[in-house]
Amino acid sequence: MDYFQYRNEEAWCEEVPLEKIAAEVGTPTFVYSKSTLIRHLEAMKKAFSHWETLPCFAVKSNSNLEVLRIIFSHGFGADIVSIGELKRSLIAGADPRQIVFSGVGKQDFEIKMALEHDILSFNVESSFELRHIAQAAKKMGKVASVSLRVNPNIDAKTNPKIATGMYSSKFGIVETEVRQLVEEIKKSDSLCLVGVSCHIGSQITDLTPLREAARRMATLAKDLLSEGHELKHVDMGGGLGITYKDEVAPALDAYAQTLIEEIRDTGLRLLIEPGRVVVGNTGILLSRVIGVKQTAEKNFVVVDGAMNDLLRPSMYDSYHEILAVKNQERVMNCDIVGPICETGDYFGKDRNMPAMDEGDLLYIRACGAYGAVMASNYNSRPRAAEVLVEGGRFQIVRSRESYEQMWSAEL
Ligand code: LLP
Repeated sequence: MDYFQYRNEEAWCEEVPLEKIAAEVGTPTFVYSKSTLIRHLEAMKKAFSHWETLPCFAVKSNSNLEVLRIIFSHGFGADIVSIGELKRSLIAGADPRQIVFSGVGKQDFEIKMALEHDILSFNVESSFELRHIAQAAKKMGKVASVSLRVNPNIDAKTNPKIATGMYSSKFGIVETEVRQLVEEIKKSDSLCLVGVSCHIGSQITDLTPLREAARRMATLAKDLLSEGHELKHVDMGGGLGITYKDEVAPALDAYAQTLIEEIRDTGLRLLIEPGRVVVGNTGILLSRVIGVKQTAEKNFVVVDGAMNDLLRPSMYDSYHEILAVKNQERVMNCDIVGPICETGDYFGKDRNMPAMDEGDLLYIRACGAYGAVMASNYNSRPRAAEVLVEGGRFQIVRSRESYEQMWSAEL
């Protein structure tokens, strides 16, 4: 459920017509609904309320400072993958003791800064990383809290580009290597094993692989506990999918129940790293039609947003619902495309939607996750503005990039 709805055939976000935002801020613009976000945050907390759980928001999915501020003020921690994300999270008020650091290529300067802030845990993905963390911690006279991110070789049944839990992917530590790393941690004065973790992929709509992964993590955690390791948590990563088209996404309660059932025996705190399910449906991309053209085969609606603003359709062939800001009875079949010089620059193909004319507005749904964060300046296009709506008011939470900002670092 979200707060993007029609009133008299016109699209609104909460108490603001989208047309008003386009008139005042221009297009393309990402529009986020604060009430939708808060609703998702509360629903997530409620679903996990019967087990000690820390949701660490996957900052990569939406790193807008104002969005992060709202998320952290609701008690969420952060899952970061770079020092840029650490810095953003701290500016937005994250508690360092609620930050986990994921990623396959943490560099020494990043490890050092994370240690300076005493983050909750490094989710370690290789023996080389463990060595670097140990060296840095030793130099700083600290003990680094580490969790081993295991690759359980489980097929998450999602798009191969965003599946991470199989041996064909670069992520995590293969189960046969876990023992060796545990021994290294045991021997080191600068490392403390605080957890086990895994993340098998994103946009997962079948709970079976998540259950299997949780079962395996629980078994490992129980073995380690019985050997005297004082683990503090099991981190089950992110990955819960949302509905873009006709996927049936599991309910939060079912998701929570699945994970909790499997890890209950460990008695440990549960960590999760949700991104998409928190922010996906909180945002849309608002765009204006530049013109409509026909070829012998198709109608093309050319809009002012493009693959540099929203890369998902081009990159993953992913489906996003596209709707007219003002509905009307005349319909057309069309491809909705951007102005970028690539055939792959499209938002939707063969869509039946209200007929569009020059100057009309449309919007693309479910752009709150992996939308603005994946934007680029391709074709020297400044990055889109971002707007947050709260009730009847809205504020610009990222101003549209200027041309000068775009090339200032090159002068
Ligand atoms: N934790 C780790 C270690 C991750 O790598 C990810 C996402 C998450 C948590 C959050 O996953 P989520 O709950 O959002 O599924 N750009 C792609 C998605 C890439 C996901 C990368 N990792 C897309 O647009 O679909």
